[in-house]
Amino acid sequence: MVKWLRDQVKPRKISVIGIGYVGLVTGVVFAKHGFKTVCTDINEMKVNSLNEGSIHFWEPGLKELIEESVRKGLLSGSTDNVEAVSGSDISFICVGTPTSPDGSSDLSAVHSCSEDIGKALKDRGDYHVAVVKSSVPPGTTDGFVIPTIEKISGKRVGEEISVCVNPEFLREGSALQDGLSPDRIVIGESDKRGGDTLSIVYEDFPSLKLVCDIRTAEMIKYATNSLLATKISFANEFSRICEEYNIDVYEVMRGVGLDSRINPRFLDAGVGFGGSCFPKDVKAIIFQAKKANIETPLLDAVLNNNEIQPLHFVDLIKKYVGGIRGKTVAFLGLSFKPNTDDTRETRALPIIELLYKEGARVKAYDPKAIPNFRAMTNLHIEYVNSWEEALRGSDFAVIQADWKEFREINAEDYKRLLKLPIVIDGRRTYDPNEFVNKGVKYVGVGWKNARNP
Ligand code: UDX
Repeated sequence: MVKWLRDQVKPRKISVIGIGYVGLVTGVVFAKHGFKTVCTDINEMKVNSLNEGSIHFWEPGLKELIEESVRKGLLSGSTDNVEAVSGSDISFICVGTPTSPDGSSDLSAVHSCSEDIGKALKDRGDYHVAVVKSSVPPGTTDGFVIPTIEKISGKRVGEEISVCVNPEFLREGSALQDGLSPDRIVIGESDKRGGDTLSIVYEDFPSLKLVCDIRTAEMIKYATNSLLATKISFANEFSRICEEYNIDVYEVMRGVGLDSRINPRFLDAGVGFGGSCFPKDVKAIIFQAKKANIETPLLDAVLNNNEIQPLHFVDLIKKYVGGIRGKTVAFLGLSFKPNTDDTRETRALPIIELLYKEGARVKAYDPKAIPNFRAMTNLHIEYVNSWEEALRGSDFAVIQADWKEFREINAEDYKRLLKLPIVIDGRRTYDPNEFVNKGVKYVGVGWKNARNP
């Protein structure tokens, strides 16, 4: 047996660079598994709030688990990347890779993390694994992460250090569950020792593990998100065709999803996809392809479709209400999906902008996302504190994100509170049959009566 494998001990100390969504969930998940974890960020406010057991965004269950981990001494925050990496056996890069104006990924934060890891490893005598968890375009890790770490530390990957790529597949709103028991764990390894060490870190996780090379691991992330975005755009395109032919797209997709080659998930038609990953990752891989003179007609169409769907939704609203100028819309749900306060790329923005352009006014309610949405636009939206307030006195209602509490609104509530009891549901929050003969005009995206108001 080779010496390193014989001597392999489970790493105990982990550093996580970046206290954003991914970093914080990653840190807390490792702390929950008993690793002593330090999360770092250049933003002192984020570090302080972590050390006080709190967080700067909302995610179900996360605050409680952070409090518990900080109390047990398993999780702490620091602003010093170099010190945190020096004191750990394994370090995770979890910084953001936002979209640049040209569609490429802005990798500057990954670059500066690589420099800090290089500095931290310079004077270390023992073995260390650096792991790239941030979504980075294929070729980034061996293109500059590894050369930067090697140059600054003076150590060689495959000898004293290893570098792995370990993409995350966390969904906001269920990130803890996804982090604690992911469908699969992808481990891209620079060398076998690195991959084995990371596999040991994950040995108690009840998930399938796929070990591959680092470029493959980078690409798996982009291919996954691109395919999921494609499924959604596909369902949305079919919703428009189904509406025209008096067919319920949800029933169609149920039938499609029963094919074991396909599966029914991510085939829910709606107002389009948003969030921090799908739009960004699809744009980034298109950029990489075009850079290599590869055409991407399918992925281009996926994005294009996602721009068409909110326009189509506003058409549906106009058709159903019969003219929206001067009318007040009770707008329910501002986040890009329920169970999150995140409004990045939310379809609420293009929809509300169009409603204003058409002369409507908006009274908006969201259980968590009002502060974030307010910061995104200076349109004169009236923000209110409950769905009841939003509906009261408004002309009609629109649902953009299907928060659970909206399911509790019944036909009587709509009739009592709205001037015109019309509900246009962008997320198929309800079974449309619930409203039949109840005195409420209801239409959901892709519903079969959508063309016959
Ligand atoms: C996504 C991926 O699922 C996750 O694996 C990755 O790491 C980050 O990006 P997230 O952005 O949190 O997660 O949300 P997700 O639940 O995937 O939904 C993304 C968008 O697609 C939302 O706007 C959602 O409303 C929309 N969606 C999703 C649909 O319109 N229809 C569906 O069937 C599913």
